[in-house]
Amino acid sequence: RRPILVDCDTGIDDALALAYLWAEPAVEVVGITTVSGNTDAARAAANTLSLLELAGIHDIPVAVGAHDFRERAYAGGAAHVHGDDGVGGIGLTPVARTHDARAAVDLIDHLASRHPDLTVLALGPLTNLAAYAETPGVASLDRLVVMGGAFAHSGNVTAWAEANIHNDPEAAAVVFAQPWDTTVVPLDVTMTQTLDAADLVRLEAIRGAVPRALARMLPQYLDFYAGRVFPDRRCALHDPLAAMIAAGVLRGVSVQSARIEVRLERGERGRTVSSGDSRTQRWVRGMEGSAVEVLFGRLENREWPD
Ligand code: BDR
Ligand code: CA
Repeated sequence: RRPILVDCDTGIDDALALAYLWAEPAVEVVGITTVSGNTDAARAAANTLSLLELAGIHDIPVAVGAHDFRERAYAGGAAHVHGDDGVGGIGLTPVARTHDARAAVDLIDHLASRHPDLTVLALGPLTNLAAYAETPGVASLDRLVVMGGAFAHSGNVTAWAEANIHNDPEAAAVVFAQPWDTTVVPLDVTMTQTLDAADLVRLEAIRGAVPRALARMLPQYLDFYAGRVFPDRRCALHDPLAAMIAAGVLRGVSVQSARIEVRLERGERGRTVSSGDSRTQRWVRGMEGSAVEVLFGRLENREWPD
């Protein structure tokens, strides 16, 4: 089983990705760090701990990462997309278990040293990972998978920029300058994998507290997308798709090997561009089959506590 550390801003599609990973036999989630984005880093950790409790998982450490972005204070999340609490306003029950006392960077270092084959899966702004890159003496990262960016596709915040990169472009620029093996999962592919109203009905039919919580969050996400991004009531599976790429379970994934950079100048701020060839960097162009089927296959197969 591949060891995975998830760095996330939980977040409705982050929550779907986490649930998928907890049900995916090909991986073992060994740690979770949070960052501000959809909501603030502390709330993202509280949301994550509540979901872990519902899943009956008590041994995955959750460390709170950066509250502020690299060159800008965090100024509120994406309540219009993910709800006031980041998870569709469903009021997840706060849990007694507190987050790990270590800083996110220290937890990443600890787990990267312990698991030399660790995959880091970044589902939010790259603030924590830029801080990691600049911390002297930390373990090298074997493999990084990032949900973020848009290449031939337009952005989802500005004409060019995707939200995770747009929130902290300076951090993304630092991360993409590292020698780490990096796979970027951009809007070009995540916008092709969607959940619709019929999938919500299918989710509602899965027994267990975690699927039930996901089914209560999803309407907020579907409502945001409906009519604005897609003509009908459907939402994109951004973070779950990156999780499946990290798990290595998708068929027919095509990638573009290229050097990846982030534009920082006004007008194009947060735009990802790729050029030339690279042995360490690539972005996912497409896939065969259906990520929705993989998601339901795993969620329906797991026995979730009630
Ligand atoms: C990304 O931005 C966040 O809002 C989502 O959770 C996802 O990680 C999509 O652009
Ligand atoms: Ca996210």
